[in-house]
Amino acid sequence: MEAQEEYSNSIRTYKLRGARITHSQEAAIERHWQRFGVEIGDEAIDLHTLFPELKHVVLEIGTGMGEATAEMAAADPTIGIVALEIHRPGIGSLLWRIDQAEVENVRIIHDDVMLVLPEKILDGSIDEIRIYFPDPWPKLRHHKRRLLQGDFLNLLAKKLRTGGLLHIATDWQPYADWIAERLDQVPEFSGGVVPRPANRTFTRFEKQGLDKEHQVTDFHYFKK
Ligand SMILES: C[S@@+](CC[C@H](N)C(=O)[O-])C[C@H]1O[C@@H](n2cnc3c(N)ncnc32)[C@H](O)[C@@H]1O
Repeated sequence: MEAQEEYSNSIRTYKLRGARITHSQEAAIERHWQRFGVEIGDEAIDLHTLFPELKHVVLEIGTGMGEATAEMAAADPTIGIVALEIHRPGIGSLLWRIDQAEVENVRIIHDDVMLVLPEKILDGSIDEIRIYFPDPWPKLRHHKRRLLQGDFLNLLAKKLRTGGLLHIATDWQPYADWIAERLDQVPEFSGGVVPRPANRTFTRFEKQGLDKEHQVTDFHYFKK
């Protein structure tokens, strides 16, 4: 039987992990959330308002423990990165890292992207969306949990500005095939597989994949 592929707000795309959070992650939230955290209200926001001096705004979905986010923000202060992550220890870890690295150009949304993206972020307002090593959900019965499918792909196109970039990386070949097949069918996007971009630093999940000798695939899709 084919897995259900309809995108639905009620389907969880992330893994449930224990609420275990380290002291330093909790302390980082306590100290730095006020400065870097974005509280989502009723109105849709233009993410550019979070970085009035910067022209290029990136939404990174599923930042995990935030290693790559902090490194990439530090490497390019001309971009503003909005990190969106549901896992609270990951938020603490990213806050700790950006404080240590004295990075200014990061803001953080702690929420489920499925709840935030449809109504809370203005259409056509994002310059770039990054999705690095999304959970592959390898079992057939879990395919419905894969982030990259159905209406969510149209939503990504809707939120990008014309010419905006969707950058995806995965180390799970069956998911790479799945992504290519589905994104090629979204008329607002053109693009496909690219060599590893020089600006993408290694993420924790990527390192785990490489240890298992997985091949990593990067995709660039541009909003027409
Ligand atoms: C496999 S990890 C990859 C993390 C990081 N990008 C890396 O490469 O190390 C996927 C991340 O996406 C987050 N995630 C999955 N679904 C999400 C959702 N609906 N909203 C926000 N975050 C989500 C998970 O909590 C997890 O941290």
